[in-house]
Amino acid sequence: EHGLDSGAWPWSHSGLLDSYDHASIRRGYQVYKQVCAACHSMQYIHFRDLVGVAYTEEEAKAMAAEEEIMDGPNDEGEMFERPGRLSDPLPAPYANEQAARYANGGAYPPDLSLICAARPNGTNYVFSLLLGYKEPPAGISVREGLHYNPYFPGGAIAMPRMLADGGVEYDDGTPSSSSQQSKDVSTFLAWAAAPEHDERKLVGVKALTVIGIMWCFALYQKRLKWAPLK
Ligand code: HEM
Repeated sequence: EHGLDSGAWPWSHSGLLDSYDHASIRRGYQVYKQVCAACHSMQYIHFRDLVGVAYTEEEAKAMAAEEEIMDGPNDEGEMFERPGRLSDPLPAPYANEQAARYANGGAYPPDLSLICAARPNGTNYVFSLLLGYKEPPAGISVREGLHYNPYFPGGAIAMPRMLADGGVEYDDGTPSSSSQQSKDVSTFLAWAAAPEHDERKLVGVKALTVIGIMWCFALYQKRLKWAPLK
């Protein structure tokens, strides 16, 4: 039931001391927004979460304000639309799972907030899956409405290939090959699932530095105190 091994792609944030590539997170958001958001929600990510990570506060406010958010009920008990704010989650494409399934031939496009943590080897899985569409091998046929992709458990996925060369417009002018898009959106989703990653590594470096210095003192003291006894 497992899909093909998704591999271990050379992420620039993989190393012990490496932070995320924040320009890539920013491009990855643009892939999500321009492609994935048509079907997948990211309910745990708010516009404010992008501030200082991939966008400035002004940029994030402006992006939020472009969205029409359903709010209410107001004093008259009515629902109303208002421009988005930093505190709003990224807008969901469907009202609920039933509406999502109805629009996708019965299949459910899962929320992507935590997909990189929820799937084994998640970031490599997303990258490989998005680019992994192939003709089915001889003797294998895929049911109508499904698409052959060896990285998806079972090999047949309801999501068609979504990435096309040049299909996304990047605001930093990076040429948007489909592999570039897959890398960037995977980095964005890795960040979404583990936003504490950079902080965690930084704290690790600081802790090891302090422990290292204290170790030297302790060693010196131990030698000093034990010297007459040896
Ligand atoms: C499934 C990511 C765009 C519809 C998935 C899965 C991932 C994913 C990782 C597999 C989830 C799992 O392991 O369970 C993305 C990304 C997109 C994107 C990163 C943008 C680049 C879209 C779009 C649509 C769509 C635009 C609709 C037209 C679906 C559906 C499934 C799915 C229906 C469920 C497949 C099944 O259960 O067979 N997507 N997706 N996706 N996606 Fe997307």
